[in-house]
Formats: sequence, C-alpha cells, structure tokens
Amino acid sequence: MSDERPIGIFDSGVGGLTVLRALRSALPAEPTVYLGDTARVPYGTRSAQTVVKYALNNARTLVKQADIKLLVVACNTVSAVALDALRADLPIPVVGVIDPGARAALSSSSASATIAVLGTAGTTRSGAYPRALLALGHRGVVVVVKAPLLVPLAEEGWTSGEVPFLVAQRYLEQLPDDVEVVVLGCTHYPLLAPVIRRALQSLRPQARVVDGAEATAADVAVLLDVRGLRAPASSALRHRLLVTDAPEQMVSLAPAFLGASIGVDEVELVDVEMTA
Ligand code: DGL
Repeated sequence: MSDERPIGIFDSGVGGLTVLRALRSALPAEPTVYLGDTARVPYGTRSAQTVVKYALNNARTLVKQADIKLLVVACNTVSAVALDALRADLPIPVVGVIDPGARAALSSSSASATIAVLGTAGTTRSGAYPRALLALGHRGVVVVVKAPLLVPLAEEGWTSGEVPFLVAQRYLEQLPDDVEVVVLGCTHYPLLAPVIRRALQSLRPQARVVDGAEATAADVAVLLDVRGLRAPASSALRHRLLVTDAPEQMVSLAPAFLGASIGVDEVELVDVEMTA
C-alpha cells in the first residue's frame, strides 16, 4: 500500500522549519506541505485556549487545501496543549514533538536522571514534558525553565557572540547542579545549540543537549510504514511552503532554519480556515 499525498507540517511561524529539515532528511521521497502561521506568531505567550483554536485553524487548512495524509505538529507549544483536540478533529494521524523529545532525553540517561526542559511560557506552564517523561518511566527530577528571549534572538539570526551567550547563561544558571540532560523544547532553540552548549560548559559541564526533531522524523517514518502511507517510488516530489503573512521573512530565515535557500516565488500566502 502507498499514498502519494503530502505530509503536512505546521508551526506558529518559521521555527518549525528545523523539524521540516529533519523530516526531509529522514524521508527524502516524501512530498511535504509546511504552513507557518506568521501572521499570528508567537504562540508561546498565548493562552492554551487560543493556541488550540489556532492549531485547529491551521490543521483544517492543511487538510482542506493540501489534502495531507498525516500531520506533524512542529510547534512545542501546540504539541503541549492541542494534540488531543487535533486528534479528535482530524481524520488523519497526528504526530507532535513532545513525546519524541522526551524519548530523546531518556535514550542515553538513566531513569533517575535530572532532566531540564527549556521552552516557551505555554510549553513550560502546560507540564507536558514532565508528564511525557513520567509516562515513559522516568523517575528523576524534571525542571522546566522558560527561555522566551531565545526565540527573538533566533529570529534575528543573532545566534552567536556575547549577547545570546549571556542570555543563555542567565537561563541555564537556574538549572540544578546535577542536571544530566537539557531538552531544547522549542522549535527555535536548535539554532542556539552551540551557544547553549558553550554556556553549559562553564555552568553544568556534565549536561547533554538534545532536541526532538530527529526522533519526531523517526516516529513519522514508523507511522507511514505501519499505516501503509509511504509515497510510491514513482510519485513526483513536491515541497510546498505556505505562510499567513510576510513570505519574505521565511525566505530570509530559511538558510538558518531549513538549511537551504528558497526564492520568494516558492512561498505561498494563504488564509487559514477560521472555523474553530
Ligand atoms: N514554535 C514555538 C514553539 O516551539 C516557538 C515560537 C512561538 O512562541 O510561537 O514552542
């Protein structure tokens, strides 16, 4: 069995291109459609109720306008609060980034390790990472730290040098002394991973940094196989990029977030379904 429809992926903005990058690399034969809700970013500061509404708008848009076969929620904030609502609403499988991120954290640490999660206000407030870690059998301390300033720094391309280093240091100072794993629980933080690692070297040198993008792509691959949804070898490979505002912003950030340059004619401006 095979299915030539694209995989849909959405985020509050362009940050989810880090997850799209992992997806394209793990599944090079799969067509994709990415939607960045750049008109309403950021989600991390909003209430759970608003994030659920936006998530339903975005998901319904991808189902209706792009006929997707599976949905990847690249945004940690959305994955933290809206997965149940999306699964109840959509006729297709939905994959979020929290469970894969939690598994990545546990993959090389003990069940009693102290784990820290960096995320937006919405993600940290939701308790989604501690819940996911507990469900996976983790029995150690989990500390969640909101690190909101890292998002605009990544968007500005300000990912090295003194300013991001000092910001990262200020957040990381809050971590327990015995922290073993630091989870980058936000689409934007992988861009700052080198600076975060450098700041940890002086503060908590034993700590390892992980993010869930590759684990998410691996989950999608398994799901495609189990459900018989892989694209047929003969199907044409097409990647679409949709935004709700300012296509030029995606063009300028694509090299950093996606690892590839794109032209402005490759980005489509869309209105989302306002039906939630
Ligand atoms: N995409 C969001 C996340 O991963 C970060 C940006 C935002 O606040 O919308 O949580």
